[in-house]
Amino acid sequence: MDGMSLREARTRVIGRGLRARDGLSHLFRTPEAGPLRTLNIEMTILCNLRCPMCWWYGTNGVAPTLIRNGDPLWSKQLTKDEIFRILDGVRGEVEHLHLSGAETFARADTIEVLEYASRLGMTCSFTTNGTLLDSRPGWLERIAAARVRTIVVSIDGPEDVHDAIRGQGMFRKTTETIRRLIALRGDRTTPLFAVNSTVTSGILGRMNEVVETARSVGFDEVRFQHLWFADPATALVHAQALKADFGIEDHGADAHVMPVPGAEYGRRVARELREVQRRNFPYRVDVRPNLNEEQAARYYSDLNYSVVGHCSRPWGNPTIKASGEVVFCPDQWISYSIGNVRDAPIEQLWNGDKARTFREKLDARGLYPGCVRCCAINVDFRG
Ligand SMILES: C[S@@+](CC[C@H](N)C(=O)[O-])C[C@H]1O[C@@H](n2cnc3c(N)ncnc32)[C@H](O)[C@@H]1O
Ligand code: SF4
Ligand code: SF4
Repeated sequence: MDGMSLREARTRVIGRGLRARDGLSHLFRTPEAGPLRTLNIEMTILCNLRCPMCWWYGTNGVAPTLIRNGDPLWSKQLTKDEIFRILDGVRGEVEHLHLSGAETFARADTIEVLEYASRLGMTCSFTTNGTLLDSRPGWLERIAAARVRTIVVSIDGPEDVHDAIRGQGMFRKTTETIRRLIALRGDRTTPLFAVNSTVTSGILGRMNEVVETARSVGFDEVRFQHLWFADPATALVHAQALKADFGIEDHGADAHVMPVPGAEYGRRVARELREVQRRNFPYRVDVRPNLNEEQAARYYSDLNYSVVGHCSRPWGNPTIKASGEVVFCPDQWISYSIGNVRDAPIEQLWNGDKARTFREKLDARGLYPGCVRCCAINVDFRG
């Protein structure tokens, strides 16, 4: 039994049986995953904004270097037709498609991908900075007509805070565009409009203003998202672990390196978030992850602290990068690729040798060092 205990072997056998029927492989952490139900596509690494906390274009963001070096992530971007063929291949299996990017709508054909997926019967969601949604006449109407379940729009604070992060005039541009898009929804219940507000120091004392803005624009809910970050030591041991397990030079976690805010900052954030939730109830204000004061103190000061001890993402939620590489980990945390959709269909890659190897290695470790601040374990994915 290859050193496997009887209990482990039994768990895996039961796991395989359940996996096929119910997609429960993530509970049993078998090397083989259940059916692919949700797919993420990063449409592009281009973006019109330069938010300082962002791993694409922020202080340590990776995108400018990738573009300067002609990295395939940028220079070999999947075409619209290639994306259509991927969607054809997973038709009837994938139920939900989430689009992101850097900026999802920095590509003019994102709208056509949404429409194509809708025609195939998939529901869709996307995250956007909201500034490019009306770049071409008729886009808003077309978005409103597609099968979009959720539209997540980044608003990082009241106008002055948001514009200090995202650029002068961006708050007005985004809120005015979303107002028009919400009007086009009419009496329908979808799409759901959610604000995604990344918690940075600028909104301390002003979080309630974010909720007031969201309510006045007509958003259905607000999701406050704790910062994802690393310190240099964590980024280094993360890269060393990836080198040891996969033989790859992967320094993607460096893009997340930023000053560690500290325990007292964490306590303040948690107190204010709790108060904002209380004050606005029953309006939905989610906090991701929802930390109490002591947990938040540790989250913002101790990079060995993790809210949960394992990650299920590789068992259910792959990301196709703009270059066609298929990865399990979002946001450049781990760039280990299970293959490129130009070489093999994603249905084949999903349980191919490289995918199984990654699941086994991850299962053995529990988490890689940088995982502790990755969105996959700190945000419940809800497209
Ligand atoms: C990278 S953006 C991509 C989509 C789009 N460009 C946007 O801004 O919404 C996705 C989300 O990640 C958030 N984000 C960026 N950097 C972050 C960080 N260090 N920690 C947590 N969230 C972050 C952004 O605010 C945004 O809501
Ligand atoms: S708009 Fe989005 S992708 Fe662009 S820099 Fe800001 S957070 Fe990053
Ligand atoms: S928590 Fe770790 S393993 Fe899971 S998706 Fe994030 S980087 Fe990958």
